[in-house]
Amino acid sequence: MAAHKLIVASLLLCCLAETCYGKVLFTSLKRTLDVTASPKLGQVLLAGEDKISGTWVLNKTFPAGTDSSYKTIKLKLCYAPISQRDRAWRKTENELSRDKTCPHKMLAMHYDASNKTVHTFEWLIKKDVPQATYFIRAYAVDSNDVQVAYGQTTNTNKSTNLFQINAISGRHITLDICSICFSAFSVLSLLVFFYIEKRKGKTQK
Ligand SMILES: *[C@@H]1O[C@H](CO)[C@@H](O)[C@H](O)[C@H]1NC(C)=O
Ligand SMILES: *[C@@H]1O[C@H](CO)[C@@H](O)[C@H](O)[C@H]1NC(C)=O
Ligand SMILES: *[C@@H]1O[C@H](CO)[C@@H](O)[C@H](O)[C@H]1NC(C)=O
Repeated sequence: MAAHKLIVASLLLCCLAETCYGKVLFTSLKRTLDVTASPKLGQVLLAGEDKISGTWVLNKTFPAGTDSSYKTIKLKLCYAPISQRDRAWRKTENELSRDKTCPHKMLAMHYDASNKTVHTFEWLIKKDVPQATYFIRAYAVDSNDVQVAYGQTTNTNKSTNLFQINAISGRHITLDICSICFSAFSVLSLLVFFYIEKRKGKTQK
């Protein structure tokens, strides 16, 4: 009987949690974080090789206590509109649980409300980051891991300060291997050809 009640209660709690935390709208978040990053407008970086460094800090124009619920700052790599076009799997949704703008986690940093200095970060671009145009966004999340504020390196329209990441192309490596194989094969055929010719010459003598 008690177990029954517990299950019902926890189900109810889950439902409440779902309605309370499940539907965070991006437009409901305040842009309280000032975020900068090293890539300059139009810069091309290489996945697996280049690093992105940057800073984040609480914008001082907001009243004291604005950040009282912030627990962690999560830095993410996000697709610029040009790299979302015709790609439903990268679509921007106002409801954050369904938003696919920022699928690439960079770093998570502990938020200390008593420390208002500019915080720096550095991140080596992972090899599996697809070739696209990006910006960086930071979410402040609370103790329930729910987004409560944000900041980003681009403007609201996501049109400024965008940069490109190029993948180390697998095709180039394959092409290189192919051409090496072909060269080796042609040298080998030439040797075989000469050998046969030589033998022919010998037997004719
Ligand atoms: C801080 O926020 C204000 C108001 O949103 C904005 O005008 C200002 O540019 C921000 N500061 C920085 C350094 O981004
Ligand atoms: C405040 O943050 C900076 C940058 O993250 C760090 O270097 C510094 O040690 C922190 N200060 C305190 C008092 O925690
Ligand atoms: C953002 O886009 C809207 C509509 O396209 C435009 O009216 C507005 O001026 C733009 N704002 C900035 C800051 O570029």
